[in-house]
Amino acid sequence: MCGIFAYSGEPTNASQLILKGLKNLEYRGYDSWGIAVKKGNSIYLEKHVGKISNAQIKKVVSKVGIGHTRWATHGGITIKNAHPHLDCTQKIAVVHNGIVENFEEIKKRLIKQKHRFVSETDTEVIAHMIEDKIRSGKSIENATYLTFKELRGLNAIIVFYPEKNTFLAIKNSSPLIIGKGKRGFFIASDITAIIEHVNQVYYLKDNELVVIKDKDAYLLEVKKHKKIKIKFTKPQISVDDVGLGKYPNYMIKEINEQPKVIFNIAKNYKQNIKKIANKIRKSYGTYFIGCGTAYFAGLSGTYLFSKIAKRHVNSAVGSEFVYLIDFIKKESLVLALSQSGETIDIISSIKKVKEKGAYVTAITNVAGSTLYRMADDKLLLNAGPEKCVLATKSFTAKIAVLYLIAHTLNGSYDKAVENLIKVTKEIKKIIKNKKIKKIAQKIVNKRHIYILGRGVSYPTALESALKIKEVSYIHAEGFPAGELKHGVIALINKGTPVIVYNPTDETYDDTLSSAHEVKSRGAYVIGIGSKPNKIYDEFIHVDDCKNANIIPNVVIAQLLGYYLAIEKGLDPDKPRNLAKSVTVK
Ligand code: F6R
Repeated sequence: MCGIFAYSGEPTNASQLILKGLKNLEYRGYDSWGIAVKKGNSIYLEKHVGKISNAQIKKVVSKVGIGHTRWATHGGITIKNAHPHLDCTQKIAVVHNGIVENFEEIKKRLIKQKHRFVSETDTEVIAHMIEDKIRSGKSIENATYLTFKELRGLNAIIVFYPEKNTFLAIKNSSPLIIGKGKRGFFIASDITAIIEHVNQVYYLKDNELVVIKDKDAYLLEVKKHKKIKIKFTKPQISVDDVGLGKYPNYMIKEINEQPKVIFNIAKNYKQNIKKIANKIRKSYGTYFIGCGTAYFAGLSGTYLFSKIAKRHVNSAVGSEFVYLIDFIKKESLVLALSQSGETIDIISSIKKVKEKGAYVTAITNVAGSTLYRMADDKLLLNAGPEKCVLATKSFTAKIAVLYLIAHTLNGSYDKAVENLIKVTKEIKKIIKNKKIKKIAQKIVNKRHIYILGRGVSYPTALESALKIKEVSYIHAEGFPAGELKHGVIALINKGTPVIVYNPTDETYDDTLSSAHEVKSRGAYVIGIGSKPNKIYDEFIHVDDCKNANIIPNVVIAQLLGYYLAIEKGLDPDKPRNLAKSVTVK
């Protein structure tokens, strides 16, 4: 949930280089940030509270340094709590992603030993633990490794020891990628932060210790004190995938990329999809798991599989699945949906699922991510880096994949491909539709927005509400249209915006009745579908894309959320309190 960056190589303006890397990682955490670079024989430290986007930093030429962008867990958002954290001797600097679950007991012990703590963080114990071990004669490598082994929880750390021009990194679940380029070596929590500098990468495995010393980088088998050569490979993304191009922010860029992403899935995924469909046929129960938007993709999948493939597939929220897995058997199949492949609630569930011997298929956007490496089989969405904190293209890509799997199971793959191509055209029309922005301008001062849908449009309503609330901070609630009269209708009064997803499927008449019910309580009804009706105050036309209607319908909500945020002067890429990769529980 935090971003880590480190550099070792030619002398350069290291402070600015690291700051730039952190800007690329800001989506992972943006409440405070800091850097530590070698200056003379000591550490130049600079820490700040707030966003990095427009931050400036003093020029410090150096060969080596580290940086961190924080999403607070332990301790408030203050300069003292920002990373890097130093030991008492100020010779060791540490940046960390994760939670040290046993930090309280370690801290008590260290305080008794007279260590001085300046922050409230769990991270600071790491610097003092290493200091202790170095004092007792251990090398920095041994001290780092042994300290890491004492930490409970899922963590990634970089330990900077300028006296020896060295930094070391080790991880357990949280991602770290090592890159090699002309200027030297880099490490970051995400490949997008280093891609402009490197032409070879290596995804560090759990408990591997990497040592970077001047122009040398190797893995160290600590017990045998054996150096192991790093097997670098070519990166799977390029610099062009990362920048904003002609767009003002990543949210609108990524919304615009959806036709391309879906077209690619429609045209090139036949073999992968067939493999997953065969696995589903043979499995004893299939489960979709995901968090947030990814959960809503799974829930949409449950409806699609029932309707199209006549199969029941359970869907569960990642953090809840651990309490539901008593029935998982080795014949079960779990499809884990995760854009980042790093979401801790998914990783923890998958660990348990694997202990039970079940088969895991990952549907993710990040090659080499933790989920990608843990899964028995993987399908990459190839949506390109999703940098806006809100999931947009990864959601519609997952829907396209699940839709194709469902159609493969009923033998109608080609028909599904044809329909997905139609969807790509529909999205392009929606993006150009000026009405969505006008509606946003009309409802921007409302405090609540309600969203109705039935059948496959129910998860669409849930996902739409999530998009609107997280980016515009307007309370939005999606629910099944049939549930209206079981409670929520009490909240509808004059002028309350109610979005009604009403595609021309088997839900049409009943959903129209729900629209009448809210309208007669004074609601401002925004209808979405292919059939206009005078009951709607506003109507957004979408050509009927059959069971794939979810995709264009959600794009409307993405745009509505986006325009609401812009109207309110908010940054759509970095909503408050959120981080892109939720790597802590
Ligand atoms: C919402 C959003 C989150 C993520 C969720 C899971 O816009 O982005 O709800 O969908 O945190 O993330 P991944 O898919 O990376 O596991």
